Amino acid sequence: MFVQASILALLTGSACAGTTIWSGSFNPFPNVSVFDEWSWADEVGTYQWYIHGTQPTSHYLALSPKYKNPADTAETNGLMVTIDSTATWNSNMERTELIPQTTQNLGTGNLFYHFSLSTDPTGLNAPDSTLEHQILFFESHFTEIKYGVAPNPTNLQWMVTSQFQWGTPLVPGTWYNFAYDIDFSGQTVGLWFSTGGSPLTKVANNVAASTSTNSEDFHVGVLRIVNTPAPENWYISGVYIENGPITTAIGNGNSTGSGTTTIPTTTPTTTPTTTPTTTSPSSTPTGPTVPEYGQCGGTGYTGPTTCASPYTCKAISPPYYYQCL
Ligand SMILES: *[C@@H]1O[C@H](CO)[C@@H](O)[C@H](O)[C@H]1NC(C)=O
Ligand SMILES: *[C@@H]1O[C@H](CO)[C@@H](O)[C@H](O)[C@H]1NC(C)=O
Repeated sequence: MFVQASILALLTGSACAGTTIWSGSFNPFPNVSVFDEWSWADEVGTYQWYIHGTQPTSHYLALSPKYKNPADTAETNGLMVTIDSTATWNSNMERTELIPQTTQNLGTGNLFYHFSLSTDPTGLNAPDSTLEHQILFFESHFTEIKYGVAPNPTNLQWMVTSQFQWGTPLVPGTWYNFAYDIDFSGQTVGLWFSTGGSPLTKVANNVAASTSTNSEDFHVGVLRIVNTPAPENWYISGVYIENGPITTAIGNGNSTGSGTTTIPTTTPTTTPTTTPTTTSPSSTPTGPTVPEYGQCGGTGYTGPTTCASPYTCKAISPPYYYQCL
């Protein structure tokens, strides 16, 4: 009797949370050298790592418990992303960004793109609010966090197609939890938000947007405009993409966040619940895309970097020439 009641509780819990269709947890990475195992020739692991400057990976990425939201008990480490004058990639913009490596369709139905952001509590290498930053964005910028731009440069600001929607002051050491609420079918996007260990609440209703992704253009990192010598550190944790309904507890959809008890850890997270991965995303990519055989990157290149579906941007002669194949 007791056992049956427990199972029922677990099933009820699982019905209240979505399924993680891609996890950006840093648990599979014992050190940052592991990010280098991914290459265009050998696309292994959960993240693509090619958008970065010329220094070794350890110059731009670091893992530590200090860099994660402490309320996120599912992750061992968070990621520190560093931007400095060596971090130029593909232009004079400074970029340190990871991209999901997956065969899952990350652009179908109603998905929730979760992440938490913070900066050093002592203000070490604090972000410069006089420079534009694009944070956790899609190539077409239909949804992103910006910092250092109008209307309030000292706020983290949620933008839809570069139009301001919502903002909150960036205070060193505070953890900001976000989820982009993206309806790829209805072509709208909204925002969920909380700080620290508080559950997410919806802070901005969905607005119309050209929602699309080729499942390889969610930039987990920071782009800074323009070149400046001062280094900056940003902390990122709790990255995962969930098929709704949204998990509001802070965690990774795989565990209990603070203050909840019913989300089971036994739910298989690898069961595909979306379109088979051999099918193209149902939504047509919008914004500039590069056709087959077109250039999509390389030294001095400043054009679009997203390939038209189903092609991907391949290093032909790195760092000079990248092509959609
Ligand atoms: C869930 O947790 C397990 C065990 O810690 C881990 O192996 C797995 O990658 C996690 N899944 C997700 C989707 O985070
Ligand atoms: C990083 O971790 C991998 C996998 O555990 C290990 O083989 C490698 O030696 C480590 N590298 C460094 C620099 O610690």
